[in-house]
Amino acid sequence: MNVKTGIIYSSVDGQTLKICNKLRDELLQSNPNVELFSIDNFNENITNYDRLIIGASIRYGVHNKKIIDFINTNQKQLDSIKTAFFSVNLVARKSEKNTPTTNPYVIKFFKTIDWTPTIVEVFAGKLDYKKYPFFDRIMIQFIMWITKGPTNTSSEIEYTNWDKVTAFGIQLSNL
Ligand SMILES: Cc1cc2nc3c(=O)[nH]c(=O)nc-3n(C[C@H](O)[C@H](O)[C@H](O)COP(=O)(O)O)c2cc1C
Repeated sequence: MNVKTGIIYSSVDGQTLKICNKLRDELLQSNPNVELFSIDNFNENITNYDRLIIGASIRYGVHNKKIIDFINTNQKQLDSIKTAFFSVNLVARKSEKNTPTTNPYVIKFFKTIDWTPTIVEVFAGKLDYKKYPFFDRIMIQFIMWITKGPTNTSSEIEYTNWDKVTAFGIQLSNL
């Protein structure tokens, strides 16, 4: 069966995109028809896809507004196919906040949106101080200080659990 899969991402520093690329590689093992789009470039008809995966990172407590608008505008079409959503954030580096039912951003997101994807996941992102402009660096340093994370601005730590990403990819292949 030729299943068509679309992956749509919103990524500022590239970690969500990196996760999407890994998911694409995973999906390609069972089906050749996988397309990856930034939310800025997705103009396709949703119902042309059998499966649609949406991944977005958190910045200052929220997912990209374009992702939220996209879901709200297309909820009916999304409900007619298999869908998945995942969030990428740094709070998920903590084991007690790294599932869809324990991650505060995922919980809040689904309280404010009228959509229930087939599967939901959350991944820890990457901390890379040297990529951040001055204001963001200070803010992230402050957030890290409050949440007992690294505050040394030379820190570059990828918290993403790639085994968890692979497991999610396998789950997506079986959708
Ligand atoms: C300006 C800025 C704000 C952020 N705000 C939050 C936040 O409020 N909560 C959190 O858990 N992570 C926060 N993060 C961490 C990002 O979600 C994390 O770095 C993620 O890997 C970014 O993914 P992306 O590169 O795909 O955008 C923030 C990162 C930046 C640079």
